[in-house]
Amino acid sequence: MTKANQSMAGPATAARAASQKSGTATTRGCEKTIMGGLTRRSVLANAAALAALPGAIWGTGRPARAAGKPVPFGSAIQFNLMDGDPAYRQLFVDHCDLIMPMNALKFDLLRPTREVWNFAPADKIVDFALRHGKTSRGTCHIWWGATPAWVKAIDSPSEAEKVLVEHIERVTDRYKGKLISWDVVNEVIANDPIYEKRSLRDTYWLRTLGPRHIPIAFKATARADPDVELVINDYDLEFQGPHYDERRTIMLSIIRQLQDANIRIDAVGMQGHLYASKVIDVDAIERFHRELDQLGVKLLVTELDIIDWQSPPGSASQDATAADLVSRYLDALFADKPPEMVISWGLTDRYSWINDVMPRPDKAPSRPLPFNRNLQPKPWFKMLRKRLAMT
Ligand code: XIL
Repeated sequence: MTKANQSMAGPATAARAASQKSGTATTRGCEKTIMGGLTRRSVLANAAALAALPGAIWGTGRPARAAGKPVPFGSAIQFNLMDGDPAYRQLFVDHCDLIMPMNALKFDLLRPTREVWNFAPADKIVDFALRHGKTSRGTCHIWWGATPAWVKAIDSPSEAEKVLVEHIERVTDRYKGKLISWDVVNEVIANDPIYEKRSLRDTYWLRTLGPRHIPIAFKATARADPDVELVINDYDLEFQGPHYDERRTIMLSIIRQLQDANIRIDAVGMQGHLYASKVIDVDAIERFHRELDQLGVKLLVTELDIIDWQSPPGSASQDATAADLVSRYLDALFADKPPEMVISWGLTDRYSWINDVMPRPDKAPSRPLPFNRNLQPKPWFKMLRKRLAMT
């Protein structure tokens, strides 16, 4: 573990050991089936049953909760596609409670050079959302994938801190009262903490400012908008195995350290990029949710989609795999108490980062999102909406 990591995540050691002990089966071997223990046939049969029974509640087996407010559903929209594809744009209006910019609030798009502030794309989406009576949220002040080259060229820690704080204050202030929450930091946990023997991801901000870039970012956002919800967002918090136990433990440790320093943190964003090849750990998510609850921190899903390159090709089987994953995920999310909201990373298979970043090796089109390329809802979208309404 590096010195930088020790000061932010060191005290987690005991909790981490306990969590590792409780870690159950790993994901190894699951690639052979669609997902742990399920055959392709059983998945297809489930999907057929769902399609035949529009009123059915997808396989929860849990008692219904007392009526409450439905959990909102939202999605991230791409500003560069909004004008050219009005049907795409309209889909968000018709089906979302929240519409958020997918990329337009990321550092590199907002400020490609030191001199240029490019607010127009984000303004357009936020205005679009509010005009249609939706809420919106911001992602993200700090993300390793969106640090512009001109920032990375700054070596001086004091200069880097100045630039970061100025950026966060200016951007947060501009959208004050318009966004309900901000992903203050995104993906700060090491990709593979056990193998890499580190808790935090090796990024420009960690190398330049150390772990304190996290509290700096939370404090600056809170200062600029005392009412906005402050979120820490990350991936691979959903699955079974020591690797994922470790990532959940580190997340809890970061939250405790912020709270110990009297720094506000309101929620964890679980990205919810689900894989046909990874087993969702229902018990671990329930435990994680309960632990967050005890810390007074909420849980929301921020980037739901299905990475289906390891499921058998064909729209029926890919959608059945997705339906089963989403159903299991919802079981996990609702097990302790309902999540704050569920947001998908796009709405239609027509446009998704999965097609670019993790395409299917067999070249079959990937089907990651709740609506197909013709903008028709898949059975799992109806199931998702029904479950979100059942709080
Ligand atoms: C991705 C977008 O979907 C792409 O359009 C963009 O080119 C790169 O970023 N995890 C995240 C998101 O937190 O911000 C990423 O979004 C996908 C992975």
